[in-house]
Amino acid sequence: MPLNRKLKTTFGKVSGLYHSARIGYASKLFSDIVKISNIKKNSVILDVGSGTGKSAEFFAKHGYNLIGLDIGKELVSIAKAELQNYPNLSFKIGSFEKTKFKPNTFDLIISGQAFHWLDPYVACKNSAKFLKKGGFLAIFSKFQKKDLKFSPKIWELFIRHCPDYPADKLNYLSYAINISEKINKSNLFFKPIIKKYNSKFKYSKKQYRDLIMSFSWTSSLNKGRKELFLKELGKMLNSRKWPYYVTYDNVLIIAKVKK
Ligand SMILES: C[S@@+](CC[C@H](N)C(=O)[O-])C[C@H]1O[C@@H](n2cnc3c(N)ncnc32)[C@H](O)[C@@H]1O
Repeated sequence: MPLNRKLKTTFGKVSGLYHSARIGYASKLFSDIVKISNIKKNSVILDVGSGTGKSAEFFAKHGYNLIGLDIGKELVSIAKAELQNYPNLSFKIGSFEKTKFKPNTFDLIISGQAFHWLDPYVACKNSAKFLKKGGFLAIFSKFQKKDLKFSPKIWELFIRHCPDYPADKLNYLSYAINISEKINKSNLFFKPIIKKYNSKFKYSKKQYRDLIMSFSWTSSLNKGRKELFLKELGKMLNSRKWPYYVTYDNVLIIAKVKK
């Protein structure tokens, strides 16, 4: 099942759940972005699909200037409220395909778990246009690693209940290949560098349930299907010991603009 890009608006509808259940990325991934892109404290960063500010927070804490852009107004209000103490951050509601920034504005464009929701052709073209000479585009995502017993059961549940579950797309390698191909095809960037990182998170039963219900393919289920799904999910969650230690593959695809 290919990714259904119509579901890009689902995150705004479950914004509170999204913010409480979704975790951030491996911190080494962010320090590598800083190192590779060679950004300075006065550099300007654009965060495409900034959501509730999970990636913006790292750059805010380290004193960089960042503008977050997202189509979800509920997500933008959470990001604004959570990160209100950082004067170096601002957030805007809008789609990356349609928002007009001046050409040559940004030193770095980042996009965490969001680039795949965009029109790839327009997203590469706009990124190249809005980046300064020598600027970088950094796209990243993270994927739950398969364990021996529990994750296969959950994934089987998604396959049975969720018509929009993009099963074959959910691993770091196919993500990295897919994004790199799109960047290369645009011919606007040098060959991307790909890096992988591991991270781990300890989930309580409630957190893991909230995480599952924040996915686009579960939050978009209709009422009847969602009830059935939740019933089976509840049984499955009750059948194991908690907490659950989940390991993630984080992947970074970073490319310098040809200017
Ligand atoms: C999975 S969330 C990732 C949010 C955040 N970057 C993070 O890592 O937690 C994907 C985000 O992309 C946003 N989005 C989807 N399509 C977009 C577009 N065309 N322009 C701007 N934002 C978009 C969604 O609203 C959502 O907040």
